[in-house]
Amino acid sequence: MQSITIRRPDDWHLHLRDGAMLEGVIADTSRTFARAIIMPNLVPPVVTTTDAKAYRERILKALPLGHRFQPLMTLYLTEHTSPDDVEEGARSGLITAVKLYPAGATTNSHGGVRDMEKAMPVLERMAEIGLPLCVHGEVTTPDVDIFDREAVFIDTVLDPLRKRLPELKVTMEHVTTADGIDYIKAAKSNLAGSITTHHLIINRNAILVGGIRPHYYCLPVAKRENHRLALRTAAVSGDARFFLGTDSAPHVDPLKECACGCAGIYTSINTMSCLAHVFEQEGALDRLEAFASLNGPAWYGLPPNEERITLSRQAEPVVFPARIETGAGPVTVFDPMFPLHWQVMQRAQAF
Ligand code: DOR
Ligand code: ZN
Repeated sequence: MQSITIRRPDDWHLHLRDGAMLEGVIADTSRTFARAIIMPNLVPPVVTTTDAKAYRERILKALPLGHRFQPLMTLYLTEHTSPDDVEEGARSGLITAVKLYPAGATTNSHGGVRDMEKAMPVLERMAEIGLPLCVHGEVTTPDVDIFDREAVFIDTVLDPLRKRLPELKVTMEHVTTADGIDYIKAAKSNLAGSITTHHLIINRNAILVGGIRPHYYCLPVAKRENHRLALRTAAVSGDARFFLGTDSAPHVDPLKECACGCAGIYTSINTMSCLAHVFEQEGALDRLEAFASLNGPAWYGLPPNEERITLSRQAEPVVFPARIETGAGPVTVFDPMFPLHWQVMQRAQAF
């Protein structure tokens, strides 16, 4: 197959940051994607509906002229979040989901939730009104090995929560393990999972073999090869419970390339090329549209996009910049470590 036309994709998990970084990265998403769920882990985080409204306006202002892109806003769940504020945000259409960061799990998560009990009033309200909870599914207990944090989270936090509040709609974000995939597949309802581009491509060797490679470090950290294969099988299966959430997370190079580097991989610019490569390798190009453009909107109760994009296979490798320059500094682009041949062409339908 030399070319494939699919509905315009969405990104169901994206970090756009703020200020000069936001301005430097937004076009890499809005050029290709119609909508994205915007992560609220700014400094300070997006905690209230008022914060989310202001952040949404800053995002729209940073959009290049002519790009049509809809940011879907989330609230950062804290132990003090007001159920009424969440409900108001949801009912007004501003808030698409609430994000749970266990405190200390990742970048800017120190204001997250330590004691789930304290978040129960908000979670109960969300279950009542049908607002989804997006979950960073890792425990932070120091005695749990970092490679086991997702599996332990499922057993000790997520499963008890879902048993207690079966009506709560939960998105397990950036699933990285076979355990996560199995858990989602076993659920009867109200559970889905997003999968990143990079976790379909790298395993933990990418970070550690031949030297420490900070640009492959993210959280949840990439796992063993068997987990990567389980993610690939789920992503290409067409199963409606799995969809794309890139978790593209820009950090300037000096903050990645240092003694205590930040977690995050920047994939916005080459995600669709990488995904077409993966789906082609798996003999599943016909299911790329389900993963990138159909399953996500169905889960969030939104219509799929009407516009289409065409990806075309080039004989010569498609070259992406090794890093992009932003007003905040340089950001290294994810290198899949194989040549990419698929390119997003001019959109089939203008917008
Ligand atoms: O790798 C990551 N980077 N994982 C996260 O959960 C947060 C993100 C970020 O904000 O940089
Ligand atoms: Zn993230």
